[in-house]
Amino acid sequence: MKPRDRLRIAMQKSGRLTEPALELLNRCGLSFRQSRDKLFCFGEGEPVDLLLVRDDDIPGLIAQGVCDLGIVGRNVLQEYQLTAGLEAGPLSEWRPLGFGRCRLSIAVPQELDYREPKQLAGSRIATSYPGLLGQWLREHGIEAGVVTLAGSVEIAPRLGTADAICDLVQSGGTLVANQLRETEILLESEAVLAGPQMLPTDERGDMIELLLKRLDGVIQVRESRLLLLQTSRGTLDAITRLLPGGPQPTLLPVAGQPDQFMLQALCAGEVSWRQLEEIKKAGAREMFVLPVEKMLA
Ligand code: PRP
Ligand code: ZN
Repeated sequence: MKPRDRLRIAMQKSGRLTEPALELLNRCGLSFRQSRDKLFCFGEGEPVDLLLVRDDDIPGLIAQGVCDLGIVGRNVLQEYQLTAGLEAGPLSEWRPLGFGRCRLSIAVPQELDYREPKQLAGSRIATSYPGLLGQWLREHGIEAGVVTLAGSVEIAPRLGTADAICDLVQSGGTLVANQLRETEILLESEAVLAGPQMLPTDERGDMIELLLKRLDGVIQVRESRLLLLQTSRGTLDAITRLLPGGPQPTLLPVAGQPDQFMLQALCAGEVSWRQLEEIKKAGAREMFVLPVEKMLA
């Protein structure tokens, strides 16, 4: 294959991950011109293009080198690694992306008196994830039939083609609608950035490294808050002890007031009203909590 000089990222064409994945890439400074067939999106500015595909196809496209990276559910990535032949190159989960959270779970009919995994022995379990389910059954020493279905897994028990299912659960709405009850969680999943285990040695490798740095910044600032407050020398220690985790705060002198400081602290998560009230009680004044727009360490 001719080496490419542009990076190619595979992502879901239409589904739950599409919008948040595009937004994340935009925040990393990537924007795309949608082509008419909407399969290939040419990147404007940076030499990074998008391939919009079915999410099940993403790991294979990376393994074959058609794409350099992919945004895909951990469930899809792991299932591929368990079921693809050995000739497929090994893939890595490079970064968890913090959206598209769901779990792969076993669910049984509501009326079944389920207590422990052993009860699944001898039953038929419908799933689109035979690899992950098979691995879990082996780990628990359970012999059960795995009925592999491409979709509509949740209706299998009602149709009589299976006794239980193993499927993705997000809100739980699908299970309730089908009178099923979640009993075992096999995998906590979310969208991840997937790629080959080794970076390409050409300039695409450098581009991936750059993208990973931006991505880390974006993921970090999404959670970060900048806390600003005014304190006197006497209350400084008490206030510092109450600050939500993060790097050491910075102190700035207040002009004309030798005893006063502006304190600036980067907090690794939300700062709640309750935390603010505590800090104020310890003697802080003029408090601000600001979202962080960009960060480059
Ligand atoms: C998944 C899964 C369930 C549903 C669960 O399907 O297979 O059907 O979501 O979500 P809930 O707990 O919020 O109801 P998806 O919508 O991704 O479509 P697909 O099964 O056709 O891929
Ligand atoms: Zn479904």
